[in-house]
Amino acid sequence: MNEKILEINNLKITFNGLFQQVCAVDNITFDVKKSEIVALVGESGSGKSVTVKSIMGLLQQTQIDGEIFFEGQNILAMKEKELSKLRGRNISMIFQEPMSALNPVMKIRTQLEEILKIHNYKCKISYAEKIRSTLAMMNISNPEEIMERYPFELSGGLCQRIVIAMAVICQPELIIADEPTTALDVTTQAEILCLLKETAKKIGSSVLIITHDLGVVAECADRVVVMYGGKLMEQGNVEEFFYHSKHPYSKGLLVSRPMNFNGRYPVIPGNITRNVNTIDGCPFAERCKHAQDICKKEFPKEQIISEEHKVWCWNTESEVV
Ligand SMILES: Nc1ncnc2c1ncn2[C@@H]1O[C@H](COP(=O)(O)OP(=O)(O)OP(=O)(O)O)[C@@H](O)[C@H]1O
Ligand SMILES: [Mg+2]
Repeated sequence: MNEKILEINNLKITFNGLFQQVCAVDNITFDVKKSEIVALVGESGSGKSVTVKSIMGLLQQTQIDGEIFFEGQNILAMKEKELSKLRGRNISMIFQEPMSALNPVMKIRTQLEEILKIHNYKCKISYAEKIRSTLAMMNISNPEEIMERYPFELSGGLCQRIVIAMAVICQPELIIADEPTTALDVTTQAEILCLLKETAKKIGSSVLIITHDLGVVAECADRVVVMYGGKLMEQGNVEEFFYHSKHPYSKGLLVSRPMNFNGRYPVIPGNITRNVNTIDGCPFAERCKHAQDICKKEFPKEQIISEEHKVWCWNTESEVV
Protein backbone atom coordinates (compact mmCIF):
# COMPACT_ATOMS: atom_id res chain seq x y z
CA MET A 1 0.00 0.00 0.00
CA ASN A 2 2.92 2.32 0.65
CA GLU A 3 4.58 1.98 -2.73
CA LYS A 4 4.35 5.31 -4.54
CA ILE A 5 3.00 5.18 -8.09
CA LEU A 6 3.10 8.93 -8.59
CA GLU A 7 5.30 11.42 -6.79
CA ILE A 8 5.09 15.14 -7.47
CA ASN A 9 7.78 17.31 -5.91
CA ASN A 10 7.79 21.13 -5.82
CA LEU A 11 5.84 21.43 -9.05
CA LYS A 12 5.64 24.92 -10.48
CA ILE A 13 3.78 25.65 -13.73
CA THR A 14 4.02 29.01 -15.48
CA PHE A 15 2.16 29.92 -18.68
CA ASN A 16 4.21 32.11 -21.00
CA GLY A 17 1.56 34.55 -22.15
CA LEU A 18 2.04 37.23 -24.80
CA PHE A 19 2.12 40.08 -22.29
CA GLN A 20 2.81 38.41 -18.96
CA GLN A 21 3.66 35.15 -17.30
CA VAL A 22 0.89 33.43 -15.33
CA CYS A 23 1.96 31.15 -12.54
CA ALA A 24 -0.93 28.65 -12.29
CA VAL A 25 0.63 26.15 -9.87
CA ASP A 26 3.29 26.89 -7.29
CA ASN A 27 5.33 24.46 -5.22
CA ILE A 28 2.94 21.51 -5.18
CA THR A 29 4.12 18.28 -3.53
CA PHE A 30 1.98 15.16 -3.13
CA ASP A 31 1.93 11.51 -4.04
CA VAL A 32 -0.42 8.70 -5.00
CA LYS A 33 0.29 5.26 -3.62
CA LYS A 34 -0.45 1.87 -5.16
CA SER A 35 -4.18 1.02 -5.26
CA GLU A 36 -5.04 4.32 -3.59
CA ILE A 37 -7.72 6.83 -4.61
CA VAL A 38 -6.59 10.41 -4.09
CA ALA A 39 -8.98 13.34 -4.58
CA LEU A 40 -7.62 16.71 -5.68
CA VAL A 41 -10.09 19.36 -4.52
CA GLY A 42 -10.35 23.13 -4.66
CA GLU A 43 -12.60 25.67 -6.30
CA SER A 44 -12.53 26.67 -9.94
CA GLY A 45 -9.18 28.06 -11.08
CA SER A 46 -7.17 26.57 -8.21
CA GLY A 47 -4.87 24.72 -10.63
CA LYS A 48 -6.21 21.14 -10.45
CA SER A 49 -6.50 20.48 -14.20
CA VAL A 50 -3.20 22.17 -14.98
CA THR A 51 -1.49 19.92 -12.40
CA VAL A 52 -2.84 16.70 -13.91
CA LYS A 53 -2.26 17.84 -17.49
CA SER A 54 1.41 18.30 -16.62
CA ILE A 55 1.51 14.64 -15.52
CA MET A 56 0.19 13.60 -18.93
CA GLY A 57 2.52 16.00 -20.78
CA LEU A 58 -0.46 17.85 -22.23
CA LEU A 59 0.62 21.42 -21.50
CA GLN A 60 2.03 23.65 -24.20
CA GLN A 61 3.88 26.94 -23.93
CA THR A 62 4.54 26.42 -20.28
CA GLN A 63 7.55 26.42 -18.04
CA ILE A 64 7.37 23.39 -15.73
CA ASP A 65 9.76 23.18 -12.78
CA GLY A 66 10.03 20.49 -10.14
CA GLU A 67 9.77 16.72 -10.50
CA ILE A 68 7.03 14.27 -11.47
CA PHE A 69 7.96 10.65 -10.92
CA PHE A 70 5.78 7.85 -12.26
CA GLU A 71 6.93 4.48 -10.91
CA GLY A 72 10.31 6.05 -10.20
CA GLN A 73 10.83 7.56 -13.70
CA ASN A 74 10.95 11.33 -14.04
CA ILE A 75 8.20 12.21 -16.51
CA LEU A 76 9.50 15.76 -16.98
CA ALA A 77 12.81 14.41 -18.27
CA MET A 78 11.14 12.07 -20.79
CA LYS A 79 11.10 12.59 -24.55
CA GLU A 80 7.66 12.90 -26.19
CA LYS A 81 8.05 9.39 -27.69
CA GLU A 82 8.61 7.78 -24.26
CA LEU A 83 5.77 9.77 -22.75
CA SER A 84 3.32 8.79 -25.48
CA LYS A 85 4.06 5.13 -24.67
CA LEU A 86 3.02 5.74 -21.06
CA ARG A 87 -0.09 7.73 -21.99
CA GLY A 88 -3.09 5.49 -22.31
CA ARG A 89 -1.07 2.38 -21.49
CA ASN A 90 0.29 3.06 -17.98
CA ILE A 91 -1.43 6.35 -17.18
CA SER A 92 -4.86 7.05 -18.62
CA MET A 93 -7.16 10.01 -18.31
CA ILE A 94 -10.93 10.37 -18.08
CA PHE A 95 -12.22 13.81 -19.05
CA GLN A 96 -15.30 15.63 -17.83
CA GLU A 97 -17.26 15.69 -21.06
CA PRO A 98 -17.66 12.18 -22.52
CA MET A 99 -18.81 13.37 -25.93
CA SER A 100 -15.61 15.33 -26.52
CA ALA A 101 -13.49 12.31 -25.55
CA LEU A 102 -15.20 10.03 -28.10
CA ASN A 103 -14.77 10.20 -31.86
CA PRO A 104 -18.27 10.84 -33.29
CA VAL A 105 -17.59 9.07 -36.62
CA MET A 106 -16.13 5.85 -35.23
CA LYS A 107 -17.95 2.86 -33.80
CA ILE A 108 -17.27 2.11 -30.13
CA ARG A 109 -15.55 -1.16 -31.10
CA THR A 110 -13.12 0.62 -33.46
CA GLN A 111 -12.28 3.26 -30.83
CA LEU A 112 -11.44 0.64 -28.21
CA GLU A 113 -9.58 -1.53 -30.75
CA GLU A 114 -7.45 1.45 -31.75
CA ILE A 115 -6.21 1.86 -28.16
CA LEU A 116 -5.21 -1.82 -27.95
CA LYS A 117 -3.46 -1.61 -31.34
CA ILE A 118 -1.59 1.64 -30.59
CA HIS A 119 -0.18 0.14 -27.41
CA ASN A 120 0.37 -3.26 -29.01
CA TYR A 121 -1.51 -4.72 -26.07
CA LYS A 122 -0.84 -8.42 -25.56
CA CYS A 123 -3.65 -10.62 -24.25
CA LYS A 124 -4.56 -14.29 -24.49
CA ILE A 125 -8.04 -13.53 -25.85
CA SER A 126 -8.92 -11.77 -29.13
CA TYR A 127 -9.27 -7.97 -29.18
CA ALA A 128 -13.03 -8.37 -29.84
CA GLU A 129 -13.37 -10.53 -26.74
CA LYS A 130 -11.23 -8.10 -24.68
CA ILE A 131 -13.51 -5.22 -25.76
CA ARG A 132 -16.63 -7.23 -24.99
CA SER A 133 -15.40 -8.22 -21.53
CA THR A 134 -14.27 -4.65 -20.72
CA LEU A 135 -17.70 -3.30 -21.68
CA ALA A 136 -19.31 -6.02 -19.57
CA MET A 137 -17.10 -4.94 -16.65
CA MET A 138 -18.68 -1.47 -17.11
CA ASN A 139 -22.04 -3.12 -16.29
CA ILE A 140 -23.16 -2.80 -19.91
CA SER A 141 -25.59 -5.66 -20.28
CA ASN A 142 -25.50 -5.91 -24.11
CA PRO A 143 -21.83 -5.27 -24.96
CA GLU A 144 -21.99 -6.99 -28.41
CA GLU A 145 -24.69 -4.58 -29.51
CA ILE A 146 -23.11 -1.45 -27.96
CA MET A 147 -19.75 -2.21 -29.61
CA GLU A 148 -21.34 -1.69 -33.02
CA ARG A 149 -22.92 1.68 -32.15
CA TYR A 150 -21.70 5.25 -32.70
CA PRO A 151 -21.42 7.61 -29.67
CA PHE A 152 -24.36 9.80 -30.75
CA GLU A 153 -26.65 6.76 -30.50
CA LEU A 154 -25.88 6.39 -26.77
CA SER A 155 -26.92 8.29 -23.62
CA GLY A 156 -24.49 10.52 -21.68
CA GLY A 157 -24.17 7.97 -18.86
CA LEU A 158 -23.45 5.15 -21.32
CA CYS A 159 -20.88 7.31 -23.14
CA GLN A 160 -19.13 7.99 -19.83
CA ARG A 161 -19.00 4.20 -19.21
CA ILE A 162 -17.37 3.81 -22.65
CA VAL A 163 -14.87 6.55 -21.76
CA ILE A 164 -14.02 4.68 -18.56
CA ALA A 165 -13.70 1.45 -20.60
CA MET A 166 -11.22 3.26 -22.88
CA ALA A 167 -9.24 4.41 -19.84
CA VAL A 168 -9.06 0.96 -18.23
CA ILE A 169 -8.83 -1.42 -21.22
CA CYS A 170 -5.01 -1.57 -21.09
CA GLN A 171 -5.10 -1.97 -17.29
CA PRO A 172 -3.09 1.17 -16.48
CA GLU A 173 -1.31 1.60 -13.15
CA LEU A 174 -2.76 5.11 -12.76
CA ILE A 175 -6.13 6.53 -13.84
CA ILE A 176 -6.53 10.30 -13.77
CA ALA A 177 -10.15 11.45 -13.76
CA ASP A 178 -10.80 15.18 -14.24
CA GLU A 179 -14.31 15.79 -12.88
CA PRO A 180 -15.61 12.59 -14.48
CA THR A 181 -19.21 13.03 -13.37
CA THR A 182 -20.04 16.74 -13.49
CA ALA A 183 -21.80 16.44 -16.87
CA LEU A 184 -24.20 13.79 -15.52
CA ASP A 185 -27.32 13.75 -13.36
CA VAL A 186 -26.96 12.90 -9.66
CA THR A 187 -28.09 9.25 -9.89
CA THR A 188 -25.87 8.51 -12.88
CA GLN A 189 -22.99 10.31 -11.13
CA ALA A 190 -23.19 7.93 -8.18
CA GLU A 191 -23.30 4.88 -10.48
CA ILE A 192 -20.31 6.06 -12.51
CA LEU A 193 -18.24 6.78 -9.39
CA CYS A 194 -19.05 3.42 -7.94
CA LEU A 195 -18.07 1.82 -11.26
CA LEU A 196 -14.77 3.71 -11.40
CA LYS A 197 -13.92 2.73 -7.85
CA GLU A 198 -14.83 -0.94 -8.35
CA THR A 199 -13.02 -1.21 -11.68
CA ALA A 200 -9.85 0.40 -10.30
CA LYS A 201 -9.94 -2.08 -7.43
CA LYS A 202 -10.44 -5.05 -9.79
CA ILE A 203 -7.53 -4.15 -12.05
CA GLY A 204 -5.32 -2.83 -9.21
CA SER A 205 -5.03 0.76 -10.52
CA SER A 206 -4.51 3.87 -8.46
CA VAL A 207 -6.83 6.81 -9.14
CA LEU A 208 -6.23 10.56 -8.98
CA ILE A 209 -9.67 12.14 -9.15
CA ILE A 210 -10.29 15.86 -9.52
CA THR A 211 -13.51 17.19 -8.12
CA HIS A 212 -15.05 20.10 -6.30
CA ASP A 213 -17.80 17.86 -5.03
CA LEU A 214 -17.07 16.77 -1.46
CA GLY A 215 -19.77 14.10 -1.80
CA VAL A 216 -17.52 12.47 -4.42
CA VAL A 217 -14.59 12.67 -2.00
CA ALA A 218 -16.56 11.04 0.82
CA GLU A 219 -17.85 8.38 -1.57
CA CYS A 220 -14.62 7.20 -3.06
CA ALA A 221 -11.36 8.76 -1.86
CA ASP A 222 -8.77 7.39 0.55
CA ARG A 223 -6.86 10.65 0.71
CA VAL A 224 -7.54 14.32 -0.10
CA VAL A 225 -5.26 17.05 -1.43
CA VAL A 226 -6.68 20.57 -1.13
CA MET A 227 -5.45 23.33 -3.47
CA TYR A 228 -6.23 27.01 -3.59
CA GLY A 229 -4.81 29.69 -5.89
CA GLY A 230 -2.26 27.22 -7.27
CA LYS A 231 -0.89 26.31 -3.84
CA LEU A 232 -1.33 23.45 -1.42
CA MET A 233 -3.53 24.18 1.57
CA GLU A 234 -3.92 20.80 3.25
CA GLN A 235 -3.63 17.08 2.62
CA GLY A 236 -4.60 14.09 4.68
CA ASN A 237 -6.63 10.92 4.71
CA VAL A 238 -10.34 11.25 4.18
CA GLU A 239 -11.33 10.94 7.88
CA GLU A 240 -8.79 13.59 8.89
CA PHE A 241 -10.12 15.89 6.19
CA PHE A 242 -13.79 15.50 7.12
CA TYR A 243 -13.43 15.40 10.90
CA HIS A 244 -10.14 17.12 11.80
CA SER A 245 -9.36 19.55 8.98
CA LYS A 246 -7.07 22.35 10.14
CA HIS A 247 -7.02 24.83 7.27
CA PRO A 248 -9.66 27.61 7.28
CA TYR A 249 -10.14 27.01 3.52
CA SER A 250 -10.83 23.28 4.01
CA LYS A 251 -13.20 24.15 6.85
CA GLY A 252 -14.91 26.68 4.57
CA LEU A 253 -15.35 24.03 1.86
CA LEU A 254 -16.83 21.62 4.37
CA VAL A 255 -19.27 24.21 5.70
CA SER A 256 -20.30 25.23 2.16
CA ARG A 257 -21.82 21.83 1.37
CA PRO A 258 -25.48 21.80 0.20
CA MET A 259 -26.30 19.56 3.21
CA ASN A 260 -25.73 22.67 5.37
CA PHE A 261 -28.48 24.56 3.52
CA ASN A 262 -30.52 26.50 6.01
CA GLY A 263 -32.57 28.93 3.96
CA ARG A 264 -29.29 30.18 2.46
CA TYR A 265 -26.30 28.27 1.12
CA PRO A 266 -23.24 28.97 3.28
CA VAL A 267 -20.40 30.28 1.06
CA ILE A 268 -16.79 31.36 1.45
CA PRO A 269 -16.98 35.12 0.74
CA GLY A 270 -14.86 36.68 -2.04
CA ASN A 271 -13.44 35.38 -5.31
CA ILE A 272 -10.58 33.03 -6.05
CA THR A 273 -7.18 34.66 -6.29
CA ARG A 274 -5.53 34.29 -9.70
CA ASN A 275 -1.92 34.66 -10.82
CA VAL A 276 -0.29 33.53 -7.61
CA ASN A 277 3.09 35.00 -8.53
CA THR A 278 1.78 38.46 -7.67
CA ILE A 279 1.23 37.31 -4.06
CA ASP A 280 4.00 36.60 -1.58
CA GLY A 281 1.81 35.28 1.20
CA CYS A 282 -1.06 32.81 1.32
CA PRO A 283 -3.45 33.25 -1.67
CA PHE A 284 -6.41 32.53 0.63
CA ALA A 285 -5.43 35.30 3.12
CA GLU A 286 -7.65 37.96 1.52
CA ARG A 287 -10.73 35.76 2.10
CA CYS A 288 -9.67 34.27 5.43
CA LYS A 289 -11.30 35.46 8.65
CA HIS A 290 -8.25 34.43 10.63
CA ALA A 291 -5.65 36.15 8.45
CA GLN A 292 -2.86 37.93 10.31
CA ASP A 293 -0.19 40.25 8.89
CA ILE A 294 2.23 37.39 8.30
CA CYS A 295 -0.35 35.52 6.16
CA LYS A 296 -0.22 38.30 3.56
CA LYS A 297 3.57 38.50 3.60
CA GLU A 298 4.87 34.97 3.64
CA PHE A 299 3.50 31.60 2.53
CA PRO A 300 3.57 29.22 5.53
CA LYS A 301 5.86 26.23 5.73
CA GLU A 302 4.41 22.71 5.78
CA GLN A 303 3.09 21.73 9.20
CA ILE A 304 3.03 18.02 9.85
CA ILE A 305 -0.01 17.06 11.95
CA SER A 306 0.42 13.29 11.48
CA GLU A 307 2.14 10.99 8.99
CA GLU A 308 -0.44 11.68 6.26
CA HIS A 309 -1.92 14.94 7.50
CA LYS A 310 -0.11 18.13 6.44
CA VAL A 311 -1.28 21.70 6.43
CA TRP A 312 0.06 24.98 5.04
CA CYS A 313 -1.34 27.66 7.34
CA TRP A 314 -0.03 30.09 9.96
CA ASN A 315 -3.18 29.73 11.97
CA THR A 316 -4.16 26.08 12.31
CA GLU A 317 -5.48 26.37 15.86
CA SER A 318 -8.57 28.45 14.98
CA GLU A 319 -11.64 26.29 15.48
CA VAL A 320 -14.22 28.79 14.21
CA VAL A 321 -14.74 29.13 10.46
N1 LIG B 1 -3.61 27.90 -21.36
C1 LIG B 1 -3.59 28.72 -20.32
N2 LIG B 1 -2.98 29.92 -20.39
C2 LIG B 1 -2.93 30.76 -19.32
N3 LIG B 1 -3.46 30.46 -18.12
C3 LIG B 1 -4.09 29.28 -17.99
C4 LIG B 1 -4.19 28.34 -19.07
N4 LIG B 1 -4.87 27.24 -18.62
C5 LIG B 1 -5.17 27.50 -17.33
N5 LIG B 1 -4.71 28.71 -16.95
C6 LIG B 1 -4.86 29.32 -15.63
O1 LIG B 1 -4.41 28.42 -14.65
C7 LIG B 1 -5.21 28.50 -13.48
C8 LIG B 1 -5.65 27.13 -13.07
O2 LIG B 1 -6.50 26.59 -14.06
P1 LIG B 1 -7.10 25.11 -13.97
O3 LIG B 1 -7.77 24.84 -15.26
O4 LIG B 1 -6.03 24.16 -13.55
O5 LIG B 1 -8.16 25.26 -12.79
P2 LIG B 1 -9.07 24.12 -12.14
O6 LIG B 1 -8.69 24.05 -10.70
O7 LIG B 1 -8.97 22.89 -12.92
O8 LIG B 1 -10.51 24.79 -12.25
P3 LIG B 1 -11.93 24.13 -12.67
O9 LIG B 1 -12.47 23.55 -11.41
O10 LIG B 1 -12.72 25.30 -13.15
O11 LIG B 1 -11.69 23.13 -13.76
C9 LIG B 1 -6.37 29.43 -13.81
O12 LIG B 1 -6.12 30.67 -13.21
C10 LIG B 1 -6.34 29.54 -15.30
O13 LIG B 1 -6.77 30.81 -15.72
MG1 LIG C 1 -10.32 21.86 -14.15
